[in-house]
Amino acid sequence: MCGIVAYVGNKPCQQLLIEGLKRLEYRGYDSAGCAVIQDGALRVVKAVGRVSNLEDRLEAIGSFTGTIGMAHTRWATHGGVTDVNAHPHTDDKVGIALIHNGIIENYAALKTYLEEKGHVFKSQTDTEVLAMLIGELYEGDLEKAVQAALREVTGAYAICVICEKEPSTLVVARKGSPLIVGIGNGEYIVASDASAIVSHTTQAMTLADYNVVKITPQGFRTSTIHDVPVTPKIEQLELELQEIELGGYRHFMQKEIFEQPKSLRNCFRGRCDAKEGRVILGGLADHAKELNKVRRISLAAQGTALHAAMIGQYLFEDLAKIPARAEYASEFRYRNPIIEDGTAIIAVSQSGETADTLAGLHEAKERGAFALGVINVVGSSIARETDAGVYLRVGPEIGVASTKAFTGQVAVLTMIALYLGRRRFMSAEQCTELLTALDSVPEKIERILTQDAAIRAVTQKYCDRENWLFLGRGYNYPTALEGALKLKEISYIHAEGMPAAEMKHGPIALINEGMPAVFIANKGRQYEKVLSNIQEVRARGGHVIAVATECDEHIKRYAEDVLYIPDIPEPLSPMLAVVPLQLMAYHAAVIRGHDVDKPRNLAKSVTVE
Ligand code: G6P
Repeated sequence: MCGIVAYVGNKPCQQLLIEGLKRLEYRGYDSAGCAVIQDGALRVVKAVGRVSNLEDRLEAIGSFTGTIGMAHTRWATHGGVTDVNAHPHTDDKVGIALIHNGIIENYAALKTYLEEKGHVFKSQTDTEVLAMLIGELYEGDLEKAVQAALREVTGAYAICVICEKEPSTLVVARKGSPLIVGIGNGEYIVASDASAIVSHTTQAMTLADYNVVKITPQGFRTSTIHDVPVTPKIEQLELELQEIELGGYRHFMQKEIFEQPKSLRNCFRGRCDAKEGRVILGGLADHAKELNKVRRISLAAQGTALHAAMIGQYLFEDLAKIPARAEYASEFRYRNPIIEDGTAIIAVSQSGETADTLAGLHEAKERGAFALGVINVVGSSIARETDAGVYLRVGPEIGVASTKAFTGQVAVLTMIALYLGRRRFMSAEQCTELLTALDSVPEKIERILTQDAAIRAVTQKYCDRENWLFLGRGYNYPTALEGALKLKEISYIHAEGMPAAEMKHGPIALINEGMPAVFIANKGRQYEKVLSNIQEVRARGGHVIAVATECDEHIKRYAEDVLYIPDIPEPLSPMLAVVPLQLMAYHAAVIRGHDVDKPRNLAKSVTVE
């Protein structure tokens, strides 16, 4: 969602701010803006649309040489996509500018209070209210005014504030939304995401909730909103620059699809002992007592992560014999869920910042569940709030349409299911068999990726159609949902995913001449049944594209197009079956001329409920 980058130091910062914003573009946004203190005066420039529009406006004005400034990409929540609603927001009486990620929940009450004091608002945003509140409370000390204002605020925020009366001071704070302070040589780069920092420094301080940092070129001071001093935690950022660059690929989504063999090898490394039939998960090691008590598992997630969680539900019941239920965290949160003794909640999230998932986690914890995280971003909010967990270790995911995080989530859930299964009834032999197959997944994905050109050719045949179906059964019903979601997200084609058997109970009415229907028809318990479902589509003029198991010649009698995946035990098949679907979605979007890495209306990490 929104992105933050700010600078204080000795160099002119305009270029650095723009480059930082470009690194954050992947998060999704619809306008951008920046503020710099230039010759003692605040200069603010904003533009709707891409960061390049902001750059054009800055160029037209002539470059700023100020050495303190901040910039923002906004994903609209309160108020439409307009220049006025874009950040920074200002209090012009004092000369304060502020950028903000998150939501000020009590903004309406604060706005009424400030209007009574004579403040006049230009925008419809909650952020402008906070800027004015800081202005109202300003008595010659920006740090104090920010602390005082944040004591009045409920909601989530990561903010940066500058003031022309204190032209070398940047004040930043966070609660609920991520913010990192990169520490350079006499300079500081603050950002909502490490990717905007690593090209300058790898030393950084991560803020805890309610922390406020006052930064000048000479140093910084960390405190709470109640002005209690805090000892800063300075760490080395793990991120490598090459991980966030395209490196020869056309799009990040394409790069990440092709990275999956490598990312899964990283995910498995040191965790699977096939010889002994044992899974070693460091993040669970100290929680044997709680894990032995688990009688029921709830999985909460959104989007792609929910589809992985749904596969997790099959895995836990099948491999560990533990009743499991996966659902939208947003629904779980508000349906008065029953959490009995022995219930574990697993929050599945790439970013670890998804507000709906975080809220679901809070609800389950409050009701006494043991909380586990299956998260990619180390140290993210969800990772910090869970009792235990297993990181994906798939590297940063930049493409808005999630791909390598999905296979990583399924891989981790598989390992957790095997881990729990072994603690209960599963024999070492059975575990060895599945771990050996798991170890073959990266190499098998490599084989699928060699069919990229053929997958593109099949996609080309149908990508002018506006309605698609994705059908699968058992383990691959969630894979069908994921295939449909990928196509919708980046090519804007209407696609429905569903269990293949459900089609005849209603959606079959949609099938007309030439409608593409993608069936996941790999060899497994329900293969024959899927063939029957295929015939139901063919009989009504639909075009069938089947994802089938290598060497299955029989399927060619049923499907017009066949994409093959290597044979693998059924519980592991989603990690292979999803790959051709990811490539189809990617090619459909490229052929239709869309910007794959910047899909309309989508944000990489959605930090509002
Ligand atoms: C957003 C993204 C999706 C993602 C979902 C959950 O909606 O656009 O691609 O699957 O959030 O994200 P998470 O970071 O929790 O996995």
